[in-house]
Amino acid sequence: MEFTIRILWRHRSTPQHNAMSRKLCDTWFYAIIVASVAAALYYYYPEIQERFPKETAILESYSDNLYATIQRYLPFLFPAAGKLPAGFFDAATLARYDGKPSSKGLYLALLGKVYNVEKGAQHYRQGGGYAFFAGKDATRAYITGDFTEKGLTDDLDGVSDDMVAGLATWIEFYQKEYSYMGKLVGRYYTSTGAKTAELRRVEGILKTALASKLKDDELKKVFPPCNSEFTPKEGHKVWCSDESGGIKRKWTGVPRRHHPPGMSQERCVCVRTTGAPHDNPSASTNNGDLSNPNLKEYPDCEPTSVSCKLK
Ligand code: HEM
Repeated sequence: MEFTIRILWRHRSTPQHNAMSRKLCDTWFYAIIVASVAAALYYYYPEIQERFPKETAILESYSDNLYATIQRYLPFLFPAAGKLPAGFFDAATLARYDGKPSSKGLYLALLGKVYNVEKGAQHYRQGGGYAFFAGKDATRAYITGDFTEKGLTDDLDGVSDDMVAGLATWIEFYQKEYSYMGKLVGRYYTSTGAKTAELRRVEGILKTALASKLKDDELKKVFPPCNSEFTPKEGHKVWCSDESGGIKRKWTGVPRRHHPPGMSQERCVCVRTTGAPHDNPSASTNNGDLSNPNLKEYPDCEPTSVSCKLK
């Protein structure tokens, strides 16, 4: 192939060629380039499919893929304007998958991604407890719990970042449980499948929330939450053990009030009492993290006690 291209190029560049044969050469030259690129795409498609299995699963065959790509990038070749290529839905198309008797199937969308929820038909089909999610993108209702007609929308306007962060578990759930079918053209995806500014905004919130959760998880390993109990007889009690707040460890620690900067509320944590502090492992001190400036002792509780009664 490369050899043919080189011959053609050299041939084209010779001065004795008249304009006519040069034009012919040009056509062949570009046709070979285009054919090579197409052949390379065709050849590497299985690899792309392997890297992005869910995204490409919707395109069942090479021909589907080629057809969808041509239709997407050269729409003027398709007089049936408005018809979306494979893997793309608009609100009207998605509405035809609402699980009602005449529907084409049972799909729903979350944040612009369409899933086939046939597997969970008991929830989403007509008469099911969550039938109102079928055939549409009702992203907002997943975090507000407002299942009225007005609440079942993909519009997140006015929803706080903290609430938007709650979408992460639903996204994970649908990705894990159901098959991805394609993109819903509208609020979150353009007709070429590109992310809209709104989707990028929401993804930004989700990314920040995830980073903050990871940081919080790390902090919980250093300062695990205390056990806590309330009984009418004994009142409110907090205490430490070698497994509290879901963190199993080799030490027990003592309860302290922890209020690091940026955290809205203080919480009860168990603090290691021996060894060097977690943020300075080479220090020669041997009182663990007890000197951490963000900690306070509980009033009327022995500083070395593993249990404190709250007043
Ligand atoms: C924001 C509020 C809520 C939303 C958006 C929501 C959404 C959902 C969805 C989408 C499903 C189907 C999951 C699937 O595909 O398997 C589901 C199932 C279920 N939900 Fe909710 N739900 C909410 C609140 C609640 C509450 C408050 C309760 C109970 C008091 C509840 C009880 C259930 C139960 C029992 C199931 C069935 C689980 C199963 O059969 O595996 N949900 N929920």
